[in-house]
Amino acid sequence: MDLHLNEEHVMIRDAARDFAQNEIAPVAAHYDETGEFPLPIIRKMGEMGFMGIEMPEEYGGAGMDAIAYVLAMEEIAKADVAVSTIMSVNNSLYCHGIYTFGDEEQRQEWLVPITTGEQIGAYALTEPMSGSDAGTMRTRAVLSEDGSHYIINGRKSWITSGPVANRLVLFAVTDPDARPKHRGITAFLIDTSKPGFTPGKEEPKLGIRASATCEIMFDDYKCPVENVLGKPGQGFKIAMTVLDAGRIGIASQALGVAEAAYEASVVYARERIAFGRPIGEFQMIQQKIADMKTRIEASRLLIYQAALAKQEAKKTGKRFTTEAAMAKLFASETAMFVTHQAVQIHGGMGYSKELPIERYFRDAKITEIYEGASEIQRMVIARNELGLRGSC
Ligand code: CAA
Repeated sequence: MDLHLNEEHVMIRDAARDFAQNEIAPVAAHYDETGEFPLPIIRKMGEMGFMGIEMPEEYGGAGMDAIAYVLAMEEIAKADVAVSTIMSVNNSLYCHGIYTFGDEEQRQEWLVPITTGEQIGAYALTEPMSGSDAGTMRTRAVLSEDGSHYIINGRKSWITSGPVANRLVLFAVTDPDARPKHRGITAFLIDTSKPGFTPGKEEPKLGIRASATCEIMFDDYKCPVENVLGKPGQGFKIAMTVLDAGRIGIASQALGVAEAAYEASVVYARERIAFGRPIGEFQMIQQKIADMKTRIEASRLLIYQAALAKQEAKKTGKRFTTEAAMAKLFASETAMFVTHQAVQIHGGMGYSKELPIERYFRDAKITEIYEGASEIQRMVIARNELGLRGSC
């Protein structure tokens, strides 16, 4: 694996690092405390090209590669995981799907406002009774008699950026009799300003509190047939393909928060005196530092491997499902391990809101849950290795 970063990679990593440390880190505690959506930050990130890093310039993107994306994501997450969540959904779950499966008109119309940060994108797959088992969704889309539009009814839950999203990619059942049933699911491009769309109550969350999450309701929402993404019945494959890309973004945000917690722990272990010497001189702290550092670097390698596989897939079309699942699984469990150890190293100060350590710990947890829980990543990896088919 060639890990040499080219000039463009160094440039985007440094730009993301400067922006994250100067403009996000100083206000991250405020946004965490208030749960306010960080719109001014997102707008600026759009202007800087962070909202559509891999999208070609003709669609308002930065035209960079998959390595550039993970480098930028890591730096933003290091300052605030909540901001990186909004960035990740825009880049991977929204833009990647539309670019990969959309036609030219759809790309022009649906990508530009999101890649430039003027509008916010979202991805609506999960439902109250359909989370890990995504193929069991109930939201229905029925073709109108004249064939001009679909009428959509149903409810989606845990929608990242749902309360503020202007546009979203929605998955709904168009053929309930299809067998296997996932072949009856279709993807739609939704304009949330149209009648029939209502965002629900915002979820109060343990972490990533500035990233707004809610249920969304569809009540006789009319979606023109031109807004079908891909082909009718192709929705589940689109959802899964997009999640492969999304999981690399989540792995990168896990890496970012782990690094933030680790770097703070090294400084603290050098400075904090107990029993007459810096606590870093005690073997029990040294063991934690060694394990934290090793897991972080192993996560980075898995993420680069997955990003390179994703980049290659742009030419070959080859799936990178296993690489993405391994990177997300390992990096998210590393983030949880490292932030947990960081709280322990900091003792009472790790538990206090005076330092960001407790926020890192709360924010890290979600990376083991969303875009496929660790249990799902293990299932995906094992099925692919064993050549097993799913249950759908
Ligand atoms: N790429 C392309 N196609 C894929 C695929 C992939 N990675 N994985 C599966 N498929 C295809 C299969 O080939 C199969 O198609 P055919 O039968 O037509 O050949 C079809 O999809 C069904 O596959 P399975 O039988 O394996 O499906 P399953 O139902 O047994 O299991 C699963 C699938 C992997 C468990 C899947 O349901 C899954 O990933 N669940 C987790 C859902 C998830 O990650 N949700 C996150 C919500 S979004 C979120 O969190 C975002 C946010 O807001 C931040």
